[in-house]
Amino acid sequence: MVKTNELKKIVSKWKDKEGNLIMVFHEIQNKYGYVPRDVSMKLSEMLDVPLARIYEVLTFYNYFDLKPPGKHTISVCMGTACYLKGANELLKKIRDLLNISEGETTEDGLFKLNVVRCLGCCGLAPVVTIDEDVYGKVQKEDVPDILAKYTKEKQNA
Ligand code: FES
Repeated sequence: MVKTNELKKIVSKWKDKEGNLIMVFHEIQNKYGYVPRDVSMKLSEMLDVPLARIYEVLTFYNYFDLKPPGKHTISVCMGTACYLKGANELLKKIRDLLNISEGETTEDGLFKLNVVRCLGCCGLAPVVTIDEDVYGKVQKEDVPDILAKYTKEKQNA
């Protein structure tokens, strides 16, 4: 939850600068990982900008997230080496298992799925990372077990 005082501070810092709406969103997203709806509503009042305009800006730039980030970030490498070794199959498997597309977060907030270009370890292609963990030479059959490590962790919490 973003406190009104914090928001006022951010707004006053950017209020008179050009492109202030974007800069305010950047600060909010850096701090909270996304731009919550209640913040958009407060900003609409504070900056006297219609809420529809705020959402127009937020949805135009892919950079801004409107939902909280997933607890774990899955990155599937689609760089050339990984692509040639079947990264597409992995991506499809993950999408199917989690029922989300790239850039989305699962309903339970556990996973966010990203597609990236070359993680710098092409010798291990195809590569998938989950947070700081690197999985190399991944086969689509391995995907359920890999994901299970993180879902089990949730069940045991
Ligand atoms: S292309 Fe995937 S790690 Fe380089």
